[in-house]
Amino acid sequence: MRITATLRTAAADQDRRLKARQRALWALGDYHRVATDLLWEFGRELVEACGIYAGQRVLDVAAGTGNVAIRAAERGAQVVASDLTPENFGAGRHEARAHGVNVEWVEADAEALPFDDGEFDVVTSSAGAIFAPHHQAVADQLVRVCRPGGTIGLTTIVPDGLARDLLEIIERYSPPPPPDALSPLLWGSEEHVRELFGDRVESLEMTSTMLLIDRFADPEDLCRFMKANHPLVVGLYEHLADEPARVATLDLDMAEAATRWNRGGPRGPAIYEIEYLVIVARKHDSRQLRDR
Ligand SMILES: C[S@@+](CC[C@H](N)C(=O)[O-])C[C@H]1O[C@@H](n2cnc3c(N)ncnc32)[C@H](O)[C@@H]1O
Repeated sequence: MRITATLRTAAADQDRRLKARQRALWALGDYHRVATDLLWEFGRELVEACGIYAGQRVLDVAAGTGNVAIRAAERGAQVVASDLTPENFGAGRHEARAHGVNVEWVEADAEALPFDDGEFDVVTSSAGAIFAPHHQAVADQLVRVCRPGGTIGLTTIVPDGLARDLLEIIERYSPPPPPDALSPLLWGSEEHVRELFGDRVESLEMTSTMLLIDRFADPEDLCRFMKANHPLVVGLYEHLADEPARVATLDLDMAEAATRWNRGGPRGPAIYEIEYLVIVARKHDSRQLRDR
């Protein structure tokens, strides 16, 4: 009995340390710049796919600086934006004000959301909750806080492409995660996602969509941008600061991936077609289940 309790406490401590590290990581660099320069279209796309409309209660999980949350609020929804990293809320508040909308910002781990069961009509997360290490816990929380018959919408990274390669490089050079921590890349597998939600959803649609990035002069320009701004890349270079040989191979690996996926010509600009998945699930309406 006492051994089980000790193991549980050790696991909880390990998880707290992991989350503290992840929070510190996502506060590095300039996430808002990454979001607005590269990922801003995802927010519009996800709000459209979920059919969000005025008056709905929407929760955006791992909301970053409000990519989805702000677009949902622009449609007249009442929106809560939650994230592990409140350091980025300042940029989000600023962006929301610039769009003339109100969003409530709440610090929260996607694996332990501080909201009531069924509190929201729509629960979204764009390339966000996939970064929490325990996927089943995340899926359970998204389903729990969504009302019966409500909508859960996610964007995730496909198992092939530049985003996948960059994430794979980041994982390869980072300190090893705890054994029970899963890679965000798994959310690109339809089988994995269906298993996570199981029969708690009555439908689950996964649509592949393309994002075109043509703002970089060449692959080196993309690598420079990522090294200066992307929290996980900034964190990786900080972590390797005393290992110049590994920094050199990391530089080469990033440049190789950025060059391989460039669809632009030799005179530039670099052109990247980033494929991603939009997932829309409808939670079972328990009243309908009872009536069957
Ligand atoms: C790639 S950003 C996406 C942010 C935003 N959804 C967007 O589209 O711009 C990943 C976000 O996940 C958040 N995150 C990572 N682990 C988390 C966790 N366990 N719980 C909640 N948020 C988490 C990070 O703080 C970061 O804001």
